[in-house]
Amino acid sequence: MRGYLVAGNWKMNGSTAANDALVAGIIANAPPSESVELLVCPPFPYLSAVAEKLAGSRVALGSQNVSQFQSGAYTGETAASMLRDVGCKYVIVGHSERRAMMGETSEIVAAKFQAVLDTGLVPILCVGETLADREAGETEAVIDEQLGAVLNLSGVDSFVNAVIAYEPVWAIGTGMTASPEQAQDVHRHIRAALEARSESVAEGVKILYGGSVKGDNAAGLFSKPDIDGGLIGGASLKSADFLAIAEAAATLG
Ligand code: 13P
Repeated sequence: MRGYLVAGNWKMNGSTAANDALVAGIIANAPPSESVELLVCPPFPYLSAVAEKLAGSRVALGSQNVSQFQSGAYTGETAASMLRDVGCKYVIVGHSERRAMMGETSEIVAAKFQAVLDTGLVPILCVGETLADREAGETEAVIDEQLGAVLNLSGVDSFVNAVIAYEPVWAIGTGMTASPEQAQDVHRHIRAALEARSESVAEGVKILYGGSVKGDNAAGLFSKPDIDGGLIGGASLKSADFLAIAEAAATLG
């Protein structure tokens, strides 16, 4: 029983006041279900303050990015050990916005994934194709390349302590969610790629879907056998919207 993970990626949104209200709303009404873990990933400057607000709650803390380096002369970078120090449990790596806009290659993403593991935190590896990739019939090849870079560097057993998020780029922030069937097909492909290397690792790894998940489409997605929760952008910025998604998972879990 893998259980569900419902994760909020706040992206570059928020303020002290807005975050306080959002976190208070989530904590107050989080479904008590044991089979659903909730996670929020604020921007770096707010991690410590949000960690304080989350203390004693069942909501976990994560970051949206990390350096692939350990420490030293890397101006503007944040080490995984620092994220652990301020209370993070999870770290998102390889989000498509970083791959596309910040020049992160699959090799850089793999190095970040390993840096997170080395620190004892849990990486959430994002993979996903663009609309052009999909229309060219390249979806699986793109996923294989992104996943393959991590498998090459860290090996299949690293996924015992990792999460994967399938986020089709064309569904992010567009309102054009993948259908449950489209998402399930890719999730199955990802799990099968791991299965070929280790059945037990494949069986245990959570694979989240991300891309325009809302309260009214979450249940359809989460009811698919290989979809173990969501990585939520826009709908994670209002507690009622985020909790509606968490409720969908709790009802199924
Ligand atoms: P939206 O939910 O806004 O489409 O964003 C998804 C996402 O990128 C989460 O990481």
